[in-house]
Order: sequence, then structure tokens, then C-alpha cells
Amino acid sequence: MPPAAAPTGEPAGDGPAIFGQASALLNTGRSAPPLSGADLPIAQEAAAALRAADYRRAPLPAPPETRVMVVANQKGGVGKTTTAVNVAAAMASRGLRVLVIDLDPQANASTALAVDHRAETPSMYDVLVDGVPMGDVIARADGFDWLCCAPATIDLAGAEIELVSVVARESRLRRAVATYFTEIGPADRPDYVLIDCPPSLGLLTVNGLVGADEVLIPIQCEYYALEGVSQLLKNIDLIRAHLNPSLAVSTIVLTMYDARTRLAAQVADEVRRHFGDAVLRTIIPRSVRISEAPSYGQTVMTYDPGSSGALSYLEAAREIAEHGRPLVEDRGEEGNVA
Ligand SMILES: Nc1ncnc2c1ncn2[C@@H]1O[C@H](COP(=O)(O)OP(=O)(O)O)[C@@H](O)[C@H]1O
Ligand SMILES: [Mg+2]
Repeated sequence: MPPAAAPTGEPAGDGPAIFGQASALLNTGRSAPPLSGADLPIAQEAAAALRAADYRRAPLPAPPETRVMVVANQKGGVGKTTTAVNVAAAMASRGLRVLVIDLDPQANASTALAVDHRAETPSMYDVLVDGVPMGDVIARADGFDWLCCAPATIDLAGAEIELVSVVARESRLRRAVATYFTEIGPADRPDYVLIDCPPSLGLLTVNGLVGADEVLIPIQCEYYALEGVSQLLKNIDLIRAHLNPSLAVSTIVLTMYDARTRLAAQVADEVRRHFGDAVLRTIIPRSVRISEAPSYGQTVMTYDPGSSGALSYLEAAREIAEHGRPLVEDRGEEGNVA
């Protein structure tokens, strides 16, 4: 069978009748505005979608120096770990260098990043309790150019108690990170350090708060969401007053948002009233893909990069990276820490 002739502007003399009809219609003398393909609404929509896709793929800006953020909320199950690992993975997938420090004995962040955390693995327990260098416990997460994790092991559960009698027990993490940064030199430092905390306000979380410059608080969009946050803020004030004067609550992330409930919208409004600009515009939706990813040893960024959960964490990461750090007093010398 001969190949069908491509339709051209001029219908062939023996071409299908439809061409003749179209030609006749075009010759009726009725004027229509000239419409090029690029003007069609569908083409405009396609162009906007392409621009959005390019924007999402674009690398994220690196901060001038490492930003150390602690993900804290003493309430369990609000999305601390999920936010820490997915923001970290989103940043790493867009060219940033990210280190996740797992301070939770449950080691959920280590699991999600598929980093070894069996009992005998060198971990944050050894760093905090025995002074082992951070560089000896940090492991690479697969699937990214530069995403690392200092894992937790179950031993950390004992660290809350063992640290009580240790010198400068609140600033063990901060000192360990500072020493690590000195050892590796400025060129090899990560752009971001994200510290995942356990659901308590014990010594591990205190080490996280003393070790960071910024606090990222995930708040679940549900009733009682703000309960406990005021206690967390009081603790942050105490840490600022006594141990880490430049600590700032820079970022609030609303998580597990269910657009079908009015309650979620009310909670989001209330949190925005309370915290203003610190609240990211991006809200993380409740998403099955986000909750499935850790059981495959993955973040949602690799498990299902096109899902709404992955895209929302990417947007959250972009907001964090583009916001910069709020203006607060410069951090003093290391000697400020008790
Ligand atoms: N946006 C989300 N959509 C659905 N499930 C989520 C979402 N964020 C977290 N989860 C799930 O909720 C549970 C608690 O989240 P997690 O990040 O472990 O909280 P936390 O670290 O504060 O205890 C986990 O099972 C997690 O997979
Ligand atoms: Mg957790």
C-alpha cells in the first residue's frame, strides 16, 4: 500500500472530500483572526507545564556556608523523619550536598536512606558517648551524588542516660560537627546538615538544638497540632538563653494535609497566624506514596519522583533553599557553648 500523502495546505485534486469542504469554508469570505499554533490555549498550557517542569528540574542554590537545621517536635508521628529525609533527598537530587544526622534510636531516617544501622554499626551513639569522629560513622546513601547519613542504632536509647554524666553533655553533637568540619575543610563541607530528632525533649533533642543554627518544626494538620509546640518553643528559648544564642526557628512545615477536611485548613490557617513567614507556602499532602517509600529503603524522591508527595517535598526544599536563613545575630565563637 502506498504511503498516504501528508496533508498540505492545498488539497490534492483527487484528495478526500473533506479537504474540498475545508477549502470551501475557508473561501466563504468570513474572516477569522489568524491563529498560529503557539496561540492556542492548549499550546500555552503545554508551554507553562514545560516551564514548570524546567523550574522543578533546576538546581537549587547553595548557601554561602553550611546551614545546620534540626528537625524537632517532641510529638511523635508528625512527620519529622519523613520531612528530614525527603527534604534532604530533594535537595540532593537538585545538586546540593546534604548530610542527615539520625539522633532517634528508632533509626527511621537511617532505614529510609538504606544506611546500615545494625547494632554493631558505628553510629551517632559512638560519636556522642565515646567521642568517635563523625567521619568514621558517616555513610553514603545510594541514588544521589552527595547524600550522606550518620546513622542511629538502638544503642542511642541508652545514650539519653549515659550522657547525663558526660562533660558538656548538651553540646557533644555541636562539638563533633565542628571538629568534623575542621577536618574535612571548607571545600568538602555539605551545603545542608539536617538533624532528625526523637519524639522527646531529652538530651538527644537538646544536642540537636544546641548543634544547629535553625529549627525546622513539622506540624501535622490535625486537632491538637499546636499542643506541645508551645512547650517546644519554651525549650528553644531556654537553649537560646543558655547554650546556643543564635538558634532560630526558621521553618515550619505543615504535613499530612488532607484537603478533604475543614479541620486541616483551619489548622493550617492557625499555624500561619502564629508563625507568619516561617511557615512554608508549600503544604505536604497526606500521600500513600510518602508512607510506602521507607519500607523499600527509599525516599519518595526515588520511589515515585512524579508523585504529589515528591513534588511537594521538592517545592518545600526549594523554598528552604531560596529563603536563606533569617537575619539573626551572628553565631559567636564555639566558646559560647557550655
Ligand atoms: N505526608 C504524609 N502522608 C502520608 N503518610 C505520612 C506522611 N508523612 C509521614 N507519614 C507517615 O506517618 C508516620 C509518622 O511519620 P514520621 O515522619 O515517622 O514522624 P515522626 O518522625 O515525627 O515520628 C510514618 O508512618 C510516615 O510514613
Ligand atoms: Mg521520627
